[in-house]
Amino acid sequence: AAIVEHSFIVKNLMVRRLCHEQVITAVNGSLPGPTIRVKEGDTLVVHVFNESPYNLTIHWHGVFQLLTGWADGPVYITQCPILPGCKYTHRFNITGQEGTLWWHAHVSFLRATVYGALIIRPRSGHSYPFPKPHKEIPILLGEWWNANVNDVEAEALLTGAAPSNSDAYTINGRPGDLYPCSENKTYRLKVKRGKTYMLRIINAVLNSQLFFKIANHKMTVVSVDAAYTEPYVTNVVVSAPGQTVDVLVTFDEPLGSYYMAASPYASTFPAIPFDNTTTTGIIQYVGSTSQTPVMPALPDFNDTPTAHKFYSNLTGLANGPQWIPVPLDVDEHMLITIGLNFELCATCQGGQRSAASMNNQSFMLPEKLSILEASFYNVSGIYTADFPDEPPVKFDYTNLNLSTDPSLVYTQRTTKAKKLKFNSTVEIVFQNTAFLGIENHPMHLHGYSFHVLAQEFGNYDAVNDPKKFNLVNPQARNTIAVPVGGWAVIRFRANNPGVWIMHCHLDVHLTWGLAMVFEVENGPTPSSTLPPPPSDLPKC
Ligand code: C2O
Repeated sequence: AAIVEHSFIVKNLMVRRLCHEQVITAVNGSLPGPTIRVKEGDTLVVHVFNESPYNLTIHWHGVFQLLTGWADGPVYITQCPILPGCKYTHRFNITGQEGTLWWHAHVSFLRATVYGALIIRPRSGHSYPFPKPHKEIPILLGEWWNANVNDVEAEALLTGAAPSNSDAYTINGRPGDLYPCSENKTYRLKVKRGKTYMLRIINAVLNSQLFFKIANHKMTVVSVDAAYTEPYVTNVVVSAPGQTVDVLVTFDEPLGSYYMAASPYASTFPAIPFDNTTTTGIIQYVGSTSQTPVMPALPDFNDTPTAHKFYSNLTGLANGPQWIPVPLDVDEHMLITIGLNFELCATCQGGQRSAASMNNQSFMLPEKLSILEASFYNVSGIYTADFPDEPPVKFDYTNLNLSTDPSLVYTQRTTKAKKLKFNSTVEIVFQNTAFLGIENHPMHLHGYSFHVLAQEFGNYDAVNDPKKFNLVNPQARNTIAVPVGGWAVIRFRANNPGVWIMHCHLDVHLTWGLAMVFEVENGPTPSSTLPPPPSDLPKC
């Protein structure tokens, strides 16, 4: 195993997109930032220099961080921010996972422009559980605003409404042909006819799920969230922010050029305004002279059946490389409602603003000290360890007419953790609720991947629905898109001591408080005990 070392110089940069100059924060002067390539078992060392005017942290999305929770990166969860002019070195092993992950800023809305791919190949002497592709291509799906993203976030907090829509989606940082002033900067991929390529698709968008298609070509999904799947053939991929999908594509169509394209899957009901545009990239067969690419027909923005079919048909590659067995007995059962609320706010228009919650707890970042430090050094007053295992009231969660009970519609900001014993097994039923609109929420857990046992529409039925659990080859993920007006059940083993945030990966919902943390206790041995923080951990 090797040590792979990188420096991230993070600073403001002027870029041109959509006929418009905009100052963004970027890593090493590029958008997206650098692609990091490691092999399973390597140690990654990244020196982060914050030369931007903003507080910064970097998160390694999906990396287990076994016993290296201090490197995880979410602001005020595992560290205080890296202040402008300061630096922090992340150092961690990448073991037990292969595939595509990514890294992104984990403070405010900065991840809109501070993100990049993290590619984990099998270690030497090991191979993929499928034929080696001719080439592997990262496809980062992003979102672009003609505004400063910090202003967009401030708007989401102050107006009590959804923030302004983005102005474009992007493929590898470029909006593509269908947007103004973007044509000659469209992302292009040259392919050799007859060869099979792997596209490593990363949804780095802030606030929208996406459909992704390639005209006239089928894709075979071979892994999601850096966990192998049974090969699944499809002509459309759906992914939520935070999710990755690796597909194999054999380019065996007539010589020509073909668009890859992505457009939103917007599940919210009642519908709210959203960015309903399409980003494109061009796949050009080597040897073809065709100038007009073929365009795929993308699903309608509200095509929930297509999204659900893709999400729920995937299965894990049981007993394949890095497979983690499904825990068969459960120590901790949790039923967690997720959804939108209001919170009272004296200074806001109308005296209230939008909030979001889990079990009606709207999460507030501590800002004085990180929760991991408070937990490690036993500092009181930062958080409480009383996150509830169940919602305060049980009711018909998905009935849009039943969203008027003030005890449920209104929430308060708290900072609550759920304590877990080392190695305990946890089952979570995520139940979407219909307050102020119903929506598919992509729930992301740090520090672990989990098995997705079942997902469906309606209210979870604790008697009958467990009969539907897939305990044999469920997909393993770090982000589960909980069906709109429905539920999903996950399981994981809490074998990684530390403090791990679980949150909706729609950034606006995270801002509104759709988050909670797990505080996982140390195990009995030194090899199951979190070591003290590195000496350069940023101080508050
Ligand atoms: Cu991709 Cu908490 O994040």
